[in-house]
Amino acid sequence: MQINSTEAPFSEDLDINGNLKEFLLQQQIYRAAIKEIKTKLEILDEEFQARYDHNPIHHMEYRLKAPQSIAEKMQKKGLEITPENIRKNLTDIAGVRVICNYLNDINHIANLLVRQDDITLVRKNDYIAEPKKNGYRSLHLIVLVPIFLAERTESVPVEIQIRTIAMDFWASLEHHLKYKAHSDMSEGLRERLKYCAESITRLDEEMQMIYEEITIDDCDQK
Ligand code: GTP
Ligand code: MG
Repeated sequence: MQINSTEAPFSEDLDINGNLKEFLLQQQIYRAAIKEIKTKLEILDEEFQARYDHNPIHHMEYRLKAPQSIAEKMQKKGLEITPENIRKNLTDIAGVRVICNYLNDINHIANLLVRQDDITLVRKNDYIAEPKKNGYRSLHLIVLVPIFLAERTESVPVEIQIRTIAMDFWASLEHHLKYKAHSDMSEGLRERLKYCAESITRLDEEMQMIYEEITIDDCDQK
C-alpha cells in the first residue's frame, strides 16, 4: 500500500492566536486519527482478501492539512485563528483518500466503516450518485473517530474520499489542469473534461460487470 504525505512544514510566520503548543498537540491528534482510520480500512481490506480473495482497496493516500491552508480557510470563513476555532470549524484537517479497484467496492467499504461502533458519520456527500457539474465523482464522508489521550478522549473529524482508480485519474488531472489554467478554463475545455468523466463512468461500470462475470465463472468451476 502506498503512503503519500503532503504535510507541509510548520510555518513560523503563521499567526496562531492562543497556544502554539496546543496547536501542535492538535496536529498530533489529527495524525493519530488518520492512523486509526488507516488501520480500520487495512483490516477490512485484509479480511476481504482472506475471505473472498479480493482486495477492495487499491491504495490509500493521507494528508494533514498544512498550517498555511488551515489559516487561509479560517480567513475565508472570517474566523479568528485559534486552536479551538480550528477544531470546531474545520472538518478536513485529517484527510484519507481510498482508491478502490471496482465501483461496488466504494459503498461496501464505506458502509462497513461507518457501521463500526466507535465511528460516527457526520456528513456524506455522494458525488457518485450525483456527480458535480464539472463531472467530479467520489464518495465523501466526514466521520468522527475517538482518540484516547492520557487524560481525555477526543472525537476527531476525518474527511474520507473514496473513489475508483478511474475517478482518481480524472480528479488528479482535472485538479492539475485547473491549477495550470491559472484563470477559468474555457467552455470548450470544460466540456471535454466532462466528456472524459462520462467515459470514465462507463468504463467503471463495464469493468464492474466484467469482474462479476469472471468471478461467477470462477465459482462455477470450483
Ligand atoms: P472544501 O471547502 O473544498 O473542503 O469543500 P466542501 O467542504 O464543500 O467539501 P467537498 O466535499 O465539496 O470537497 C472536498 C474536497 O474534495 C476538496 O478539497 C477536493 O480535494 C475534492 N474535490 C471536490 N470537488 C472537486 C473537483 O471538482 N475536482 C477535484 N479534482 N477535486 C474536488
Ligand atoms: Mg477541503
